[in-house]
Amino acid sequence: MKQKTVARKLIVKEEPHSIISEQYRVLRTNIKFSSAKKMKSFVVTSAIQGEGKSTTAANLAQLFAEEKQNVLFIDADLRKPTVHFTFNLQNTIGFSLALSHQKAIEECIQKTDDPYLDVMTSGPIPPNPSELLGSERLNEIKQQLEEQYDWIIFDTSPLLAVTDTQLLANRVDGVVLVVDMNKTHKKMVKKAQNLIENAEGKILGVVLNNVASSNMNYYSSKYYGSYVQK
Ligand SMILES: Nc1ncnc2c1ncn2[C@@H]1O[C@H](COP(=O)(O)OP(=O)(O)O)[C@@H](O)[C@H]1O
Ligand SMILES: [Mg+2]
Repeated sequence: MKQKTVARKLIVKEEPHSIISEQYRVLRTNIKFSSAKKMKSFVVTSAIQGEGKSTTAANLAQLFAEEKQNVLFIDADLRKPTVHFTFNLQNTIGFSLALSHQKAIEECIQKTDDPYLDVMTSGPIPPNPSELLGSERLNEIKQQLEEQYDWIIFDTSPLLAVTDTQLLANRVDGVVLVVDMNKTHKKMVKKAQNLIENAEGKILGVVLNNVASSNMNYYSSKYYGSYVQK
């Protein structure tokens, strides 16, 4: 499906008092309490495309920044990037160029109108995303950025499609799994969960999109941060 090229709205900014925004704030709280160990980075992912990864990740990045935490939001979906649309940014320079040593890390970071939120867009779509995300260079970039920021939040590719996100899950402090209950069968969710576990990723929580109240018991109560989508 063709990606939308129009700017996307951040609901936590546009409608901070809405129920969805409140639920994103609950999710933020749950993430902060999900580990006794100091966390600095997490990925937001899902089994397949279109489940709401980018939407969830962008709203969370904004919410962490609103608590005056220095946040860097990185578009690590090097196949179908959308973060530049959300924040209305150019995408000629970004993560792919930092990973492939074509640009210095600082050059790939852009400011937003929130002083606590910086963004690294994907950069040009590379021919070899998995190779770049599996490289030692990722560790170097992460290490440097973790010194500069309180939180590094990654938007990612779908887990079942490619290995990119497993490679990332292995190197960040946690994983937020987004599940669109209308789209994704329980077996696919289980498979996504297994892929995260195989990568030694730590699941911080699961966001349920499109939850019908009658379905609530379908997924066990270990999941949190569910919110109802229109
Ligand atoms: N909670 C939500 N409420 C309404 N629309 C949503 C919600 N989450 C995602 N969407 C819409 O669904 C579509 C796919 O979401 P996106 O975040 O781009 O998914 P992904 O990154 O997983 O491919 C987008 O058009 C987005 O605006
Ligand atoms: Mg996306």
